[in-house]
Amino acid sequence: MAYANLTVDARPDGITWVAIDRPKALNAFNAATLLELEQVIEEASRDPNLRVLVLTGGGEKAFVAGADIAEMSTMGPTKARVFSSIGHRVFDKLERLSVPTIAMVNGFALGGGMELALACDLVYASDRAKFGQPEVNLGVIPGFGGTQRLPRKIGPQRALELCFTGDIIGAEKAREIGIVLEVFPAAELREKVEAIAAKICSKGPLAVAALKRVIIEASACDPRTANALEQETFGVLFGSEDQKEGMNAFLEKRPAKFGGH
Ligand code: CAA
Repeated sequence: MAYANLTVDARPDGITWVAIDRPKALNAFNAATLLELEQVIEEASRDPNLRVLVLTGGGEKAFVAGADIAEMSTMGPTKARVFSSIGHRVFDKLERLSVPTIAMVNGFALGGGMELALACDLVYASDRAKFGQPEVNLGVIPGFGGTQRLPRKIGPQRALELCFTGDIIGAEKAREIGIVLEVFPAAELREKVEAIAAKICSKGPLAVAALKRVIIEASACDPRTANALEQETFGVLFGSEDQKEGMNAFLEKRPAKFGGH
């Protein structure tokens, strides 16, 4: 399927690469791009071959430089609220996708672009990447979930500082405060992310999906419910062929070959 604002490569090895690709606007999210991303996520959720989804920015300069300021500039309150609700809906679907998602941040991740990274499970960045929530400079606030995901990730004080000042920070600082897991030289970023995605693909897909469900869903539950969810899910996995294969392979001292059943 061809998209006007995205480049999608759904590979047979189970890794799907999605680039937000609007170079003339540094990959900024207009509504059309958000809706295309929603379509990709919905297709991904129906793809039995998918193991890992990687999101990145087209071109050399930007991951996503935020929501599209030209498009937003003429919005009134109602249109802006709808625009924000589309961003929330799409990023919630991304967060709840059953397979791991990786943000490979190759340049500017500002405003809605940083919010996209925050909605991914793992964030890796090039040493040229830059992060920030500069909405305050435009007289507005983050609108795609940043006010909620950012403080949960880095604590309210750091989140308030970034949002109050609109400061743009480098990749190393973003790693230090917990937005990014690892920073790699720009020329090595793709091969490093490929290796991490391939490693995840080699694990039992049922266990990987169960981990994501338990860790992400349980964060919204009280501790008793969360622990019950873990116990339930642990038990369910023992009905799978992957569990038999994983444990037999260990006992037979050979690598496991998981089929996802
Ligand atoms: N929306 C629309 N167009 C954008 C854009 C955005 N967010 N960011 C960059 N562009 C466009 C520029 O207008 C410019 O277009 P023209 O060539 O037609 O003039 C082109 O991309 C290249 O940008 P610059 O010339 O500005 O490039 P630069 O290297 O000088 O600066 C930058 C790069 C620091 C990222 C700068 O472009 C910038 O500050 N962009 C805006 C970042 C921002 O404020 N993002 C938050 C948006 S609000 C938001 O995201 C709300 C939300 O949470 C939902």
